[in-house]
Amino acid sequence: MQPASKANQHTTRISAHLHPPNFQAKGTALGFKVAILGAAGGIGQPLAMLMKINLLISVLHLYDVVNTPGITADISHMDTGAVVRGFLGQQQLEEALVGMDLVIIPAGVPRKPGMTRDDLFNINAGIARTLCEGIVKSCLKAIVNLISNPVNSTVPIAAEVFKRAGTYDPKRLLGVTMLNVVRANTFVAEVLGLDPREVDVPVVGGHAGMMILPLLSQVKPLCSFTPPEIEYLTSRIQNGGTEVVEAKAGADSATLYMAHAAVKFANACLCMLRGDAGNFEYAFVASQVTELLFFASKVRLGHTGAEEVLLLGPLNEYEGAGLEKAKKELAESIRKGVSFIKK
Ligand code: NAD
Ligand code: LMR
Repeated sequence: MQPASKANQHTTRISAHLHPPNFQAKGTALGFKVAILGAAGGIGQPLAMLMKINLLISVLHLYDVVNTPGITADISHMDTGAVVRGFLGQQQLEEALVGMDLVIIPAGVPRKPGMTRDDLFNINAGIARTLCEGIVKSCLKAIVNLISNPVNSTVPIAAEVFKRAGTYDPKRLLGVTMLNVVRANTFVAEVLGLDPREVDVPVVGGHAGMMILPLLSQVKPLCSFTPPEIEYLTSRIQNGGTEVVEAKAGADSATLYMAHAAVKFANACLCMLRGDAGNFEYAFVASQVTELLFFASKVRLGHTGAEEVLLLGPLNEYEGAGLEKAKKELAESIRKGVSFIKK
């Protein structure tokens, strides 16, 4: 029987108790250590479940300011390889992050109908800062997948925190915009009458409204769209987040398919850490592709992170005009993030 004062510790470490810390999951070739910050949330929970079945992961840390003991106990009963440990509250943040190879951050408030992603800034900026300060202390070499909105500002915030600490490596900081690609592939496949798995739609820019720039002239397989199709697809891809927020009527924003997109992206990062070559994904990263400090682009993932940011390729007149409009607004979101830390 545990003394009363140890009860919470026991509950949050229940899985560690079952599997000693040096437990190596059978069949786990490399056994990466992954932390999810915001693991009790709408994205965090399905993401944690999906990561528990990922064969590349040997240790999965679930951190949140609420509910991680229960979620950890629940997920830890899955008969898959990764050992799950729960961490609750800011006093356990640094411990949750020690030795992590990959940190995925879906912590923060989501939108309700009528809100923009930028309306989340006042709450989520501080959360992103605190969590990145934890990374500086405990796992400064980790790859960071930042999901919390507004991504256009939280990624610059993270970069400034890391710069201040002298640990910034732009290759390791990746804003997750994968869901724009996932959603664009789905909508374009519907119009083309194809399986979405056969479709590859480049989506660049930022992660909000008209800053989300689908490059429909570069869709693979090679195809063409009528002007009404271009208008329809561009608008649906740019407003896909709002479509879900409105359908959920105040309950949440995209969570389930976001978890799917986050897993696809995280898995690409783990494959990159494993040393797989020729791995390309879209992410919001430090960039020289335009004059902006950050921009979502196709990146080549190498074993040190986003090793190459690819150029945009030839844009048609419609896409070029969209890019010019997007850049103005994106510049302001980036500036807001940078000055939040500089102030
Ligand atoms: P949610 O409210 O369901 O979950 C957020 C979780 O974060 C909660 O469990 C909460 O307790 C936790 N949290 C709050 N403050 C924290 C802190 N300081 N430390 C650790 N955890 C903390 O929200 P959700 O639907 O999971 O969305 C999370 C975020 O992801 C939102 O900002 C949302 O806008 C964003 N999002 C981004 C994308 C993207 O493409 N990048 C897609 C969907 C949602
Ligand atoms: C999305 O694009 O679904 C997310 O950014 C959530 C939102 O607020 O729309």
